[in-house]
Amino acid sequence: MNELQELYREVILDHNRRPRNFGELENADRVVEGVNPLCGDSMKLYVKLDGERVSDIRFTGAGCAISVASSSLMTEKAKGNSIGELKSLFDRVHEMLTGDGTGAAPDIDEMDKLAALSGVRAYPTRVKCATLAWHALIGAISGSQDRISTE
Ligand code: FES
Repeated sequence: MNELQELYREVILDHNRRPRNFGELENADRVVEGVNPLCGDSMKLYVKLDGERVSDIRFTGAGCAISVASSSLMTEKAKGNSIGELKSLFDRVHEMLTGDGTGAAPDIDEMDKLAALSGVRAYPTRVKCATLAWHALIGAISGSQDRISTE
């Protein structure tokens, strides 16, 4: 394992062990349940909006290390950002997680710790574990759905 992979592994383990923004959020404006039918795991995302900006965000649920770490990293990144910024971030994260690897490598500076999730690309069955939280985020900020599935 090279140094970068080791760093990514540490980030995932840390966010799984000590998930940030974990717990229910009272007075959330949006609540979305995200389900991964492949394994039956689910998470619930709570979002508080201040106009066009995510002022607070929390999640609950149980899942594998990748899904918990992804939810934790996503909430850390999403807090304080605008709906527009997050929609465009979603596109870049989605490309990082599902691209065939022929596109540009993820921009490490922009992705920051989110780049730790990029390793799932090599494991198709784990991609949905990592994208679950991000689909829930889009469902929440679009206000379009209160239950999303990765299928
Ligand atoms: Fe269920 Fe990863 S195995 S979300």
